Amino acid sequence: MTVQHAIRTERLVAGYGGKTIVDGIDLEIPPGRVSVIVGANACGKSTLLKTLSRLITPLEGGVVLDGKRIDQIPTKELARTLGLLPQQPVSPEGIVVADLVGRGRHPHQKLFRSWTPDDDRAVTEALAATGVLELADRAVDELSGGQRQRVWIAMALAQETEILLLDEPTTFLDVSHQIEVLDLLTDLNAARGTTIVMVLHDINLAARYADHIFALRAGSVVASGAPADIVDADLMREVFDLDCRVIPDPVSGAPLVLPRGRHRLLAD
Ligand SMILES: Nc1ncnc2c1ncn2[C@@H]1O[C@H](COP(=O)(O)OP(=O)(O)OP(=O)(O)O)[C@@H](O)[C@H]1O
Ligand SMILES: [Mg+2]
Repeated sequence: MTVQHAIRTERLVAGYGGKTIVDGIDLEIPPGRVSVIVGANACGKSTLLKTLSRLITPLEGGVVLDGKRIDQIPTKELARTLGLLPQQPVSPEGIVVADLVGRGRHPHQKLFRSWTPDDDRAVTEALAATGVLELADRAVDELSGGQRQRVWIAMALAQETEILLLDEPTTFLDVSHQIEVLDLLTDLNAARGTTIVMVLHDINLAARYADHIFALRAGSVVASGAPADIVDADLMREVFDLDCRVIPDPVSGAPLVLPRGRHRLLAD
């Protein structure tokens, strides 16, 4: 079991070119749990995740990790504690899978001491866990969207951080690989106490896999809590402008959102 790090934001304001996107957010990530951020396109989810991982400097307020502002934590130390899988990661041209995943080990390598058997173990484990071991020697550029996404997840896993931030880790994955990845992250959380924070667009998977949901609208948190406590038709209207029914998922018991739409409805 890892040490459980506490990460929170204090009146966090972030944006681009002076334009506010994340608008004064105070949130506490539950340590050792799985949190999911949901919200409409462009509401600021990725901006929030990037600010949490210091890719973006806040305009106001800040991010606090274990009582310390993250801008005061040395880069390598931060990278050993907190990993981010961005929404649209870019791989160096021509790189092969094993080398890309190996880059996840950089924060663990000491000056003048390079690759160790422990790095080998971490990379092999990550490749195996995400089901891409047989792609190890393939060029990343030549993979399918879903294969590539699993390679990126492998890279994030190989970093073996105690906090893992993932921006839409299930994009490009078919339904069975989506479940596999979410089960894998849940296993990691259970086995190592890894704190997981991810953005998911599928509200039903979010409701099923999250211990805690943060619902964002226009850069503010409008609801925060256990899925069963907060996911209902009113929240879906507020966050997504969606007309829907919410029933208990017969498979998991979590809230299941059924959008109404305008067509193909049963006659009343
Ligand atoms: N690098 C950037 N420069 C300028 N504006 C940006 C930049 N990145 C994002 N934005 C703007 O900030 C707003 C929020 O973007 P963000 O990527 O945080 O949204 P999101 O909630 O992750 O959306 P999505 O669900 O589509 O991924 C958008 O209006 C977007 O156009
Ligand atoms: Mg995004």
